[in-house]
Amino acid sequence: MKLIYQYMLGFLVVVGTCLGVISIAIYSYSESMAYRQTWMQLEGYSDNLQKMALRVDPRTGTIDNITTETLDDMQDILADQKVNFVLFDKIGRELYPNRTSQPLIDAKTLALLRKGNTIRERNSTERSRPRVYHKRPMTYIMKPWFDQDNKMVAILLAGSEVSAVETNINTIKRNLLVALLVSVFIALVLSWFLANWQVKRIDKLRQATKQVAGGDFDVKIATDGQDELDDLAHDFNAMTISLQDYDQEIKRQEQRRKDFMADASHEMRTPLTTINGLLEGLAYDAIPAENRGQSIQLMRNETKRLIRLVNENLDYEKIRTNQIPLHQRSFDVQDCLQNIVSQLQEKATTSQDQLVLQAPDDLQIYADYDRFIQIVFNITQNAIQFTNQGLITIKAWHDDQQHAVLITISDNGIGMSSDQVKNIWERYYKADPSRKNTKYGESGLGLAIVHQLMQQHHGKIQVRSHLEQGTTFTLTFYDQEVIRANDTDQN
Ligand SMILES: Nc1ncnc2c1ncn2[C@@H]1O[C@H](COP(=O)(O)OP(=O)(O)OP(=O)(O)O)[C@@H](O)[C@H]1O
Ligand SMILES: [Mg+2]
Repeated sequence: MKLIYQYMLGFLVVVGTCLGVISIAIYSYSESMAYRQTWMQLEGYSDNLQKMALRVDPRTGTIDNITTETLDDMQDILADQKVNFVLFDKIGRELYPNRTSQPLIDAKTLALLRKGNTIRERNSTERSRPRVYHKRPMTYIMKPWFDQDNKMVAILLAGSEVSAVETNINTIKRNLLVALLVSVFIALVLSWFLANWQVKRIDKLRQATKQVAGGDFDVKIATDGQDELDDLAHDFNAMTISLQDYDQEIKRQEQRRKDFMADASHEMRTPLTTINGLLEGLAYDAIPAENRGQSIQLMRNETKRLIRLVNENLDYEKIRTNQIPLHQRSFDVQDCLQNIVSQLQEKATTSQDQLVLQAPDDLQIYADYDRFIQIVFNITQNAIQFTNQGLITIKAWHDDQQHAVLITISDNGIGMSSDQVKNIWERYYKADPSRKNTKYGESGLGLAIVHQLMQQHHGKIQVRSHLEQGTTFTLTFYDQEVIRANDTDQN
């Protein structure tokens, strides 16, 4: 059964029961009142009749006679009010209107009357009513008349037709029924509004639940905290907030995973391309015999770097918590840069670029070796990618004032506008989508990775660029003491 009908039914049962009980109470009270009034009226008649019809002997003070003329007059008057009476003598024989020689009242009733009791009967049936009396059902009283010596001298039975009393009771009944029907109707309308209101609130909750089930956690139900449904709505809102948090966390994790996959493949492509290039060179005897040892060394270095990359980066837990550690140490910049230049030399030659390294001997830098290679490699590769028949210079020196090793990578290639420069650190950004060079990568990730790695190193990266003139990237790697001092400050 629908909730609205359940509510209405419940409401109706309660209201109906209450009204029923009240109606029965009112009805039975009114009914007994109606009879009581009739009896009192009849007793009043009896008393008056007694006064008028009993003649007392003035000398002896005893009852002398009962005057039947008076009774005739009274009967005429009372007949209009549907009241009849019968007079019996003290042993129950009828005196008026007829005379009988046999007693018509049974001994038990007579004994009660003699004791001064008034008999009251609501709705006499043929059997219970004295045989002589009226044919139709009557409401009557039997009242004993006493003389001065308190002796019962006569009994008056005064009765009114039940139908006369019932007319009043029926009016009450009818009014009660109308009141009941009106009340039930009002209850029905009220319960419909109430139930409808509640059902609408539940519908709202259902609607919101469906939205949540459909993946929309941005739902909020208005509550003013009055009843259990409001409490439920309140809990529901709290639940959607938690779900929103979980959802965002899942999306964050998913994004991190995607980023990682993209970064990892981007970074693995570089050593793999180098190794592949060298292997092809060896396979086709394109590398002079005296350079072979160096080429093999380069391949070994790159393979080791690749293994380290895989070992360190493919740790799921580290990806999840975004904690890929740095292993910073001091190493010789010139050696490292020379390696990079060697790897990129061929690409530079293909673009007819000249690749120059200017770094002093014995210049130590404090950085994560593999990450440092990633940084410089990405920037230099870009320089080659966006420069044709130009000059690319990598310079490194120690800046005593800044306590840092500075590295610049400059080219005189196509350069960028200031607007383009603003966006280059964004993932997947390409200053000009037409600048695609599938040979050296096209994902738009390189500089985003470089930027993130420089931040991890607490270093600085700056870029100056002019369209058609060239670009210079400046990297600042602070000395070990500065980094350590900073770390201690932070702790
Ligand atoms: N030296 C440069 N000269 C001119 N434009 C550059 C230079 N370096 C970067 N850019 C511009 O910045 C963009 C972003 O460079 P980024 O290295 O992030 O991506 P990419 O080189 O296009 O692709 P990949 O992810 O393979 O490196 C480049 O697409 C290019 O438009
Ligand atoms: Mg790049």
